[in-house]
Amino acid sequence: MATALRAVPESLAPGSKLIEQNEEFRTKFDKYSFAFRHNLVGHPVFELGRLMELAQETQSTRPADLYYDAGTIDVNQRWDKTPRPEFSARDAIQRIEHCGAWIVLKRADKNPEYGMVLKECMAELQEFTGLNLDRVMKIQEVILFVTSPKRVTTYHIDRECSLLLQIQGDKHISIFDRNDREVLSEEEIERFWSVDHNAPRYKTELQHHAMVYELRPGNGVHIPVNCPHWVQNGNDISVSMNVNFQYRDTMRANLYRLNFVLRKMGLQPTPPGTSVAKDKVKSVAVLPLVWAKNLSRGRKPWA
Ligand SMILES: [Fe+2]
Repeated sequence: MATALRAVPESLAPGSKLIEQNEEFRTKFDKYSFAFRHNLVGHPVFELGRLMELAQETQSTRPADLYYDAGTIDVNQRWDKTPRPEFSARDAIQRIEHCGAWIVLKRADKNPEYGMVLKECMAELQEFTGLNLDRVMKIQEVILFVTSPKRVTTYHIDRECSLLLQIQGDKHISIFDRNDREVLSEEEIERFWSVDHNAPRYKTELQHHAMVYELRPGNGVHIPVNCPHWVQNGNDISVSMNVNFQYRDTMRANLYRLNFVLRKMGLQPTPPGTSVAKDKVKSVAVLPLVWAKNLSRGRKPWA
């Protein structure tokens, strides 16, 4: 049976926060990556036994929220070409030391214990950034990662903005600037938003463009939307928590989708953010595309 929990563990001094504030939350949030400290190490919800229970619960009640694979992974491996193991997620956690696994427990916050942690983190983040996150964020969730020693998490970009908090083990995360067009081209971003989540490709010769953060228990890092990143796990099992949020505003994503179509027609579209006037015109022009896409998915056009 799970331990009864508060979001902030009793072991911390009264009034303690889960995340330690620093000035960069206000100056760099969703623009640049930055490091911070947190107080979640030793929190009972992140013990391996508890995570095993959560993996089992997720597999039986929300199978779509559980992802795991195992094997040797290259930094440029495509998600859809990753070897899938024959064993269960629970077995993967049991064998985690030797099976080269990467286990992802999405929407962990649907469990009230992790839900409390998410609520507290979001409240602190709102305070640190000075932003009304409840108003601008569409989805807020906790994703837990349990990773085997030495395992690589492939190079990719996300549509979400996130805080990655290291709980157990250590790893290095390389994070690139999303505005570095040598690293991440307009075409790659357009393909990512339109047709291929694996569109951005890692370029070994540009590794020195990355900020490399050492994640030890108690360290955290902020990853803005679309900032390319990849992870090299250390010699031990790693447990980390991702506080993930997606913006309600889809304008930038839709502009990239329209630019994808325009480029296919042989044009050289203006990148979003270059011209406010062009962005406004294009954000209206793209609506039929969005409606058609929603309809093809059985949703309301304006959903
Ligand atoms: Fe990511």
